[in-house]
Amino acid sequence: MRLGKSRIMSQTEEKSSPSSKVPMILVTGAFSGLGRAFFEHFATGSRDDESSSHGEIPDYRVVGIDRQPWTDQEGKRQPSHIHGPRSVYVQVDVTSPRHELDAFVHRWIGAEAPIHLVIHSAGVRGLVPSVEVRKSDDVAAAEALGVMDSETMMRAFEINTVGTFNVLSAVLPNLRLAAAQGLNPRVAVMSSRIGSMAANVKGGAYAYRASKAALNAVVTSMSVDVPEVCFAMVHPGRVETGLVCVKEDGAMSSEESLETLLPVLDRLGEGHLKSGCFLDRFGVEIPW
Ligand SMILES: NC(=O)c1ccc[n+]([C@@H]2O[C@H](COP(=O)([O-])OP(=O)(O)OC[C@H]3O[C@@H](n4cnc5c(N)ncnc54)[C@H](OP(=O)(O)O)[C@@H]3O)[C@@H](O)[C@H]2O)c1
Repeated sequence: MRLGKSRIMSQTEEKSSPSSKVPMILVTGAFSGLGRAFFEHFATGSRDDESSSHGEIPDYRVVGIDRQPWTDQEGKRQPSHIHGPRSVYVQVDVTSPRHELDAFVHRWIGAEAPIHLVIHSAGVRGLVPSVEVRKSDDVAAAEALGVMDSETMMRAFEINTVGTFNVLSAVLPNLRLAAAQGLNPRVAVMSSRIGSMAANVKGGAYAYRASKAALNAVVTSMSVDVPEVCFAMVHPGRVETGLVCVKEDGAMSSEESLETLLPVLDRLGEGHLKSGCFLDRFGVEIPW
């Protein structure tokens, strides 16, 4: 049975009210690329889908956030958007001051809603803007030793590292609530193999490498400090998205990446996929 639009809105608004106790999934970077694919997957995914990665939770809702406003079919931009019967999209910048992130959690998640899954996908590549414009087909040129500058590095750190710390800190009470309710909370952070020291044989990529390595340090500390939640740092593969302007050789679609990632996320907490792990999309450990 199809629900009318007003009925869908009232149901979603009710579930999104600060007093809702319905378990929830948070997806950051939900406007584009991998985050968008995750958001659509959970917003539309069926409970019977074997690779759904929302575990044994019978009812859940999804909040997708990104710094972009939602753009509807007429091109109208909105700071929030009722996306479907169980999903909402909210414009949130992960670098916002903590009180703004807390206000977002208060308004759209609520103190009583457990979060059983976070997909943190918001991030930037950290390219020097002026070089990126001039050499749009050459990613390496826009992050090379000779052009990298402190503004680009600080911006990448602000979003990839500090933004990660801020947004995960803001939802920790809801993750802890999920743990207290036996919901096996998991946090999958889109890191990158580029953040691995051991894998760095090519050099370059200063802002991206450094900010992702620092992100790994932040998430590793959280995995120690918050043992009741399972944290994983994940390399999603080389995926064709808005992260860079060019299509890199061998890049796959976001949906293709999700096909292998979702079963791995389902197994987080089992065997070598323990909290604090650094994995590729097949679940193979990446050396630090
Ligand atoms: N694509 C790959 O091959 C690849 C490989 C390894 C790791 N990753 C990681 O995977 C994650 C997702 O990347 P993607 O490839 O899907 O790129 P993407 O399409 O650019 O998606 C990232 C999203 O995050 C948003 N974002 C950036 N800064 C933000 C902020 N301050 N607050 C909230 N949202 C913000 C971006 O908005 P804007 O468009 O406005 O920037 C964008 O919508 C990233 O962390 C990336 O480092 C990607």
